[in-house]
Amino acid sequence: MRMKKIALLASGSGSNVENIVRYFAEKKEWEFPLIVSNKADAYVHERAKRLKIPSFTISKAGFEQGEALQLLQQSDIDFIVLAGFLLKIPANLLQAYPDKIINIHPALLPKYGGKGMYGMRVHEAVVAHRETETGITIHYVNENYDEGRIIFQARCEVLPADTPEKVADKVHALEYRHFPKVIEQLFY
Ligand code: GRF
Repeated sequence: MRMKKIALLASGSGSNVENIVRYFAEKKEWEFPLIVSNKADAYVHERAKRLKIPSFTISKAGFEQGEALQLLQQSDIDFIVLAGFLLKIPANLLQAYPDKIINIHPALLPKYGGKGMYGMRVHEAVVAHRETETGITIHYVNENYDEGRIIFQARCEVLPADTPEKVADKVHALEYRHFPKVIEQLFY
């Protein structure tokens, strides 16, 4: 039974990070040795404490200078999962982890993706454009925001009366239901 060691990266709340760790809690061949954020005050650090997982803050410059790469390699990380991580992944990580870095985006890429499209901005744009559906996209990470090969998508309807907050709730529900299972199938 080969251990799978996954690094979780998040810039904000980390509800997806917590959901993933809890999903794998009884699956002994899956390990989450560390959580990395680019924000020292990100709530994901609080979640890490509760989950008893070491969490680290590495700045944008730190990522670009290889600090994250060094930390991940020291922890024998096999795969990297971005769950609400807002920095572009530097070439040093892309080269060290080819086809081993995935991201979740709260929309149906290629629509509503790219630089600056994250969080509520995505759902506000979906509502403003009167879309009748939205969803999630899980994709491989490459050198551009939200452009890597798509692995999985799931959809939900957007009703005319839906606010961006209501859409966010529906999308989060899809994330919590599908992201852990996609990780399990992909990296098994
Ligand atoms: C999620 O909506 C995810 O799709 C996007 O960032 C958000 C992260 O939320 N990439 P959380 O930090 O997991 O609560």
